[in-house]
Amino acid sequence: MNLSRRMLLHAGLGAGAALALAPNGFAEPMADWRQGYATPPARGFDPAAMKLVRGRAPRGLSGALYRNGPAQLQYGSAYASHWFDGDGLVHRIALEDGKAIHTGRFIQTNKRIAEQKAQKFLAPGFGTVGAPDFPVQSSDDVNAANTSVVMSGGEMLALWEAGSAFRLDPVTLETRGPKVWRDDLKAMPFLAHPKREPDGRLWNLAVSGPNVGIYRISPAGALESFGLVNIGAASYIHDWTMTATRLIILVQPWIQTRSTPPFIDGFEWRPQEGMKILIVDKDDLSKKRWAQAPARAFYHTGAAWEEKGGVIRLDGSFYPSPVLGSGGGADEIKGKMPAAPRVDPRLTQITIPLTGDAVLTETEYLGEFPQVDPRRHGLQRRLTAMVSGDSPNRPGQTALTVYHWESGKADVHDFGPGHMIEEHLFVPKPGGASEKDSWLIGTTINIARQASEVHVFDASDVNGGPVATWRAGYSWPLGFHGTWAS
Ligand SMILES: [Fe+2]
Repeated sequence: MNLSRRMLLHAGLGAGAALALAPNGFAEPMADWRQGYATPPARGFDPAAMKLVRGRAPRGLSGALYRNGPAQLQYGSAYASHWFDGDGLVHRIALEDGKAIHTGRFIQTNKRIAEQKAQKFLAPGFGTVGAPDFPVQSSDDVNAANTSVVMSGGEMLALWEAGSAFRLDPVTLETRGPKVWRDDLKAMPFLAHPKREPDGRLWNLAVSGPNVGIYRISPAGALESFGLVNIGAASYIHDWTMTATRLIILVQPWIQTRSTPPFIDGFEWRPQEGMKILIVDKDDLSKKRWAQAPARAFYHTGAAWEEKGGVIRLDGSFYPSPVLGSGGGADEIKGKMPAAPRVDPRLTQITIPLTGDAVLTETEYLGEFPQVDPRRHGLQRRLTAMVSGDSPNRPGQTALTVYHWESGKADVHDFGPGHMIEEHLFVPKPGGASEKDSWLIGTTINIARQASEVHVFDASDVNGGPVATWRAGYSWPLGFHGTWAS
């Protein structure tokens, strides 16, 4: 089998979930961190009310938090080889009229359907060899659709990174099939980290070796153009960033040297090459320049902006070397603590001058899943939110941290060892304009309660803790990324 790189890769962190409640079909109580990786019921989760357990619903809050992540990390005594290879399980938490309703559904990919039928792992993947006779005609035959979700033109899209987005019903989460942006782009990779301008235009990459496709999608969800740029190397590209006028692709020195499954085993870390940054004009992809930066590995950026005079600043969560490579998450999936200590990324700002090398400014804060106010995406801003903190003897993070770039200080709410926190998103308040006129909305697993919770923070008082928390009657697996739709 010789699959191209587009057949694979994908994103963040995440995992399977599990529980004890008979109504949701979990096999055994699991009052510890392992529920973050356990396998949920095959049908997913039917709509169920969550209970308000803290505060009250903020006035004007109305919409839905969608999240995606890899579940189904076990069939019988067999475990997934890598955390990134679980089937996509999409959640919808509707917050309306002071109530929270949770629904969860697996994306019905070819991989999911075949493996459910056989009740065993079959498809090759990011960290999985796969069955030698599993038929692979295109990247979508191994597409796990497990990394993120985005709304585009009224369609809910479940995202992977090496194949098509999958269209879903935004209410029932029923799978409608792969998204085809244009006939000649069928099964073209669509990265799990599209970027949206404040006016609604969406940009995204198609990564498959050194030639990278550039999607430009109108606010109404129509493909406006698809172009190509060459990034000089088959770097692992999970995320990227942009300013109002430029696309910025960070070419980390984690380079693919072969393209046979498990794909991640074909990547080689070459720190001596440093990180090369490509800056491309949005209106003319032939206009580009490069900047050199020290070697860093990363999964996620925050966002970028360009100052008067042309200096570009961007932020992200950067590691000294790659994590979650070969066998990433395999111990946690089996309910074992990894022997090696966890390495957390450092929130770092990169400054790219008009000429010369880029400069890294490291903050004193560690954290993942950086997020910014969507009204300021690509524009100068003050805040970056991320999840941070840890607890001894278990995986997962505990705290929401909001870093203030002007003061160098951060607001932090630490849920403590009893919670495993996931990405929190900025949700603008109606009528507000500043970044602090936002809520921060995200989920945790309340470990002792064996229950997932959704929290709403006021961005102006994160230290004060959630202003509202709803708790489900069960927990679901840790996931990667989400979006807010109202
Ligand atoms: Fe990601």
